[in-house]
Amino acid sequence: MIVTIVGTGYVGLVTGACLASIGHTVRCVDVSEERVEMIRAGQAPFYEPGLEELLSEGLESGRLSVTTDLAKAMENSVLSLIAVGTPSKVGALEPDLSYLETAARQIGEELRKSSDYHVVAVKSTVIPGTTRGVVQRVVEAASGRKPGEFGVAMNPEFLREGSAVEDFRNSDRIVIGQADARSGDVLADLYAYFDCEKLRVGIEEAELTKYASNALLSLLISFSNELAGLCEATAGTDVETVMEGLYLDRRLSPAVDGARVRPEILSYLRAGIGFGGSCLPKDVNALRVYGRLNGVPTPMMDAVMLTNTARPVRVVEMALKALGSLEGKTIALLGVAFKAGTDDLRSSPGLAILQALVARGAKVRAFDPFLSPKAAERAGLNGSYCPTLELAVKDADAVLITTGDPVFRNADWERLSSSMRGPVVIDGRNALRHVTLPAAVRYFPIGQGEQLVEAN
Ligand code: UGA
Repeated sequence: MIVTIVGTGYVGLVTGACLASIGHTVRCVDVSEERVEMIRAGQAPFYEPGLEELLSEGLESGRLSVTTDLAKAMENSVLSLIAVGTPSKVGALEPDLSYLETAARQIGEELRKSSDYHVVAVKSTVIPGTTRGVVQRVVEAASGRKPGEFGVAMNPEFLREGSAVEDFRNSDRIVIGQADARSGDVLADLYAYFDCEKLRVGIEEAELTKYASNALLSLLISFSNELAGLCEATAGTDVETVMEGLYLDRRLSPAVDGARVRPEILSYLRAGIGFGGSCLPKDVNALRVYGRLNGVPTPMMDAVMLTNTARPVRVVEMALKALGSLEGKTIALLGVAFKAGTDDLRSSPGLAILQALVARGAKVRAFDPFLSPKAAERAGLNGSYCPTLELAVKDADAVLITTGDPVFRNADWERLSSSMRGPVVIDGRNALRHVTLPAAVRYFPIGQGEQLVEAN
């Protein structure tokens, strides 16, 4: 199938490279000449394991091409997937739909030039009603065609950064929101290669399914963090132990052949410094706005965000308590990206912690194994960025861990702590819980109440 993908961001490019790898002819379109040149040279504009290999393979085979010319990319194409960004509007919670509208209008203008059947499908995350109310309406006006004379669909993605290629290839589900059966059939053909569950639903159901998925993950994380706060206030408790008791519920970890199976979802039931990234916070906020617009209160989603924004503050308070004052103190921040295994700083709680520490007079040395000096410079981190773990930690008054990267767990803490000025370790992810640290290290994990003194 010849497919046009509008937007070579995270979703668009991974989808394009993966679809080309299963035999489709994929034409990716982006407005940025610089980005197009970069991708044409086989370089991914962001870090994603396995993506560059797929790009090279697709470009070499000719099944994948990249252009700024939408008209050329739509020649003989049966389907356009819109995968442009829908970021939160500056200073507001609702998504900015301007990129989506522009893409829909341009696609519509191309459709006006022919009478071939073509499906316009939205891959970007959009609030219920947007595909029909904005995209379909704009395509209709720009093309002069009526719905039915072109197809409309909504096909959300469920890829995680850092494992997006793998997630695409081993999709757990494909959700096809269809305006009519003919539109959905084209999407079903596109994904015929995959034998996972394919759910064909209404357009608004598809839109909402995406939000429901991310909202549930956010809810689990905030629940775990709220519990961590309660443990911190309760002497003799440890959130890790409480959680272990929770996991052992057979409904959460079923026994299969006598052995407990721990589903991956349990990793979202762990305390930390809060969720971040380009999806979870934006999507929970968009749901809240959607509820407000429709007169439906969303107190759970409101609370999820409230707990989430409180967590980075809590970790800074722990640093303050451990060091007395942060003024003039050197703090090694280990992990800046929103999670381990990516270089993405968008809505990163680690970045929020960095800024809060600096605001309180601390000198921060930030190290993240995935963050390149260039990316750090683009993010304005020049003053704090450290290229190695050793340099970040040397002469620091404290270490503050903000991602669970295995590099931190596997580091030589004997050597690292001996290079520090004051060996304080604040562990925002409980990443070193099972590491034997030198006796001199003052270790502060999250979710632990004061130790109770045993009576003799
Ligand atoms: C998330 C969803 O997991 C994807 O299914 C979805 O497609 C994607 O958003 C999206 O909407 O595009 P992603 O933002 O890449 O993917 O991040 P996750 O790996 O889910 O991590 C989100 C947050 O949860 C991070 O802050 C991370 O630290 C935290 N997390 C992640 C955990 O607490 N535990 C984990 O096991 C994984």
